[in-house]
Amino acid sequence: MTQTASIVRCAVIGNPISHSRSPFIHQGFARQTGLALRYDTIEAPLSGFAREVERFFAEGGIGLNVTVPFKQEAFRLAGDALSARARIAGAVNTLWMKQDRLHGCNTDGVGLLGDITRLGYPPEGKRILIVGAGGAARGVLEPLLRAGCAVLRVVNRTPGRALELQDHLSLHAPELAARLQVGGLDQAAGSWDIVINATSSGLASQAPPLPAGLFAAGALAYDMVYGPRATAFMRQAADDGAATTADGLGMLVAQAAASFAIWHGRAPDIGSTLTALRDTLYT
Ligand code: ATR
Repeated sequence: MTQTASIVRCAVIGNPISHSRSPFIHQGFARQTGLALRYDTIEAPLSGFAREVERFFAEGGIGLNVTVPFKQEAFRLAGDALSARARIAGAVNTLWMKQDRLHGCNTDGVGLLGDITRLGYPPEGKRILIVGAGGAARGVLEPLLRAGCAVLRVVNRTPGRALELQDHLSLHAPELAARLQVGGLDQAAGSWDIVINATSSGLASQAPPLPAGLFAAGALAYDMVYGPRATAFMRQAADDGAATTADGLGMLVAQAAASFAIWHGRAPDIGSTLTALRDTLYT
């Protein structure tokens, strides 16, 4: 047998894709766990996602991460071979082939869960506020509620989108929807143990407009976006009394670890890969 025969092949697919950190992260996990892995980036044409997916698996690939703008299309492509998480998220970031059938999961939510737990804030019993009701928020509802948070409130600039999230959850997981509250940004007021920024406002270096006095003693402010410095939301939260602030780089590594575990059945160490990634990106 040649040496290359035992190399497993995975990739991340998106458009654009050249900025993706997934190859760095997965190669790091592979070194840690002694796996011979090739992990590529695939830039699919906007109208050619399904064709690229088919080609990847036909050529022997075993696992695909999916990123912007294809997560909803990946959801549709996996049909009914979806994890409960993916069904509730309405989006798929992890694809694999099992018994000749494409399967899909969404690991973004468990990535967030893993990261806030690593930071010392397991969600159980916590009062959690999520700001934003787009795809990023939708992906994390099920794991946070399932992990036993006391209350989860989603507030959004456009309140109707938060209501849609609630309707969607009531349909797919009615047993979880009772602990979900929704509203506009003016309904953010409260004393929260964890406040998560799931808006895209940080991409424009802005914090969402929130009332002051949001943070309970010892609270965490978590921004799903990341960058070389504290984000605008993290700075605003620190001024407002958050005890801990964090960006979303840890979530990125943790969602990758969950995909890695699905494909390879191995659980890599998140902390050391996160440190290496931050060093590579920002020093
Ligand atoms: P994603 O998939 O990253 O969640 P999205 O579906 O486009 O992207 O959602 C972006 C989210 O950021 C929305 O909740 C959006 O609010 P609206 O639904 O009102 O558009 C929110 N958002 C973007 N810019 C914002 C800003 N400057 N202030 C507050 N919320 C903002």
